[in-house]
Amino acid sequence: MSTEPRIPDAPPGEHRPVTIPRLAEMKQRGEPIVMVTAYDYPSAQVAEEAQVDVVLVGDTAAMTVLGYDSTVPVSMDEMIMLASAVRRGAHTPLVIGDLPFGSYQASNELAVGSAVRYMKEAGCDAVKMEMAGVSGGVADKRESVARARAVVAAGIPVMGHVGLTPQSASALGGYRTQGRTMQQAVQVADDALALQDAGCFAVVFEAVPSAVTEVIVERMRIPVIGIGAGSSTDGQVLVFHDMLGLHDERSPRFVKRFAESKQAMVEGMRAYAEEVRDGRFPAAEHAYSIEPAELERFREVIAPGKPWDAADFLG
Ligand code: KIV
Repeated sequence: MSTEPRIPDAPPGEHRPVTIPRLAEMKQRGEPIVMVTAYDYPSAQVAEEAQVDVVLVGDTAAMTVLGYDSTVPVSMDEMIMLASAVRRGAHTPLVIGDLPFGSYQASNELAVGSAVRYMKEAGCDAVKMEMAGVSGGVADKRESVARARAVVAAGIPVMGHVGLTPQSASALGGYRTQGRTMQQAVQVADDALALQDAGCFAVVFEAVPSAVTEVIVERMRIPVIGIGAGSSTDGQVLVFHDMLGLHDERSPRFVKRFAESKQAMVEGMRAYAEEVRDGRFPAAEHAYSIEPAELERFREVIAPGKPWDAADFLG
């Protein structure tokens, strides 16, 4: 039996599936790494067709697709369902499952168990884990690093996440830029270097001043993917709904809207509603036909007032 991994419906040869060594090569060559989030089959297909390198099934799904008001409530079961759908739509990009709040903090065993679920049940290639840059309690840095190290030791590739880590927004005092003071910058650097030492294959820097990122990137051997961290990183990531304009809410400063998809969708939906209401839809080209003779026979057997038994005609 072949031990080659099965890539469902892999598209014909022109794009090789992105691997972790390939990301390391891209860093060496200075080739920017393009990463986006996706949460379902159609968004994964969009990422596939747009030829992005990495798809993150982010816990931002909590807000973008599940309607929670933060990333904290989303469960591992919900994330597995979304990640499985993403995997079915994305064959070429590296697919990463984001470990949600509560799925890894309590122990190394819990962290490994959750990461294994992403690999076995959803077919992910790697997982991402936030590192809370605050000391004390379960968010203590040594604990966070131990979780990353344990998952790496279990043979599962880990992407770290430092700077603004939304799962710890409460401990960080809100959704704030991290690294604006010397002390905070040291914290971000220390977190990133600790995750690198723990064996992470890449790390996300979120909401970190560009100049601070630039200094830290100099010391990083693994790819750094930025979101609101300036242009000196090895790649960029944006949230699908933010970059494609799928919502009306205010976006953080680091978001650029590359399309106004919600507007286009509302316009399309309004046009549909109007056409149904004024009888223009469906038109003849949207309907199926029947041979006139068959229709005539059908009319005869179902004529009003005529007793009939469907069994007489259904063999
Ligand atoms: O959950 C997410 O979407 C993320 C990205 C913002 C990096 O962590």
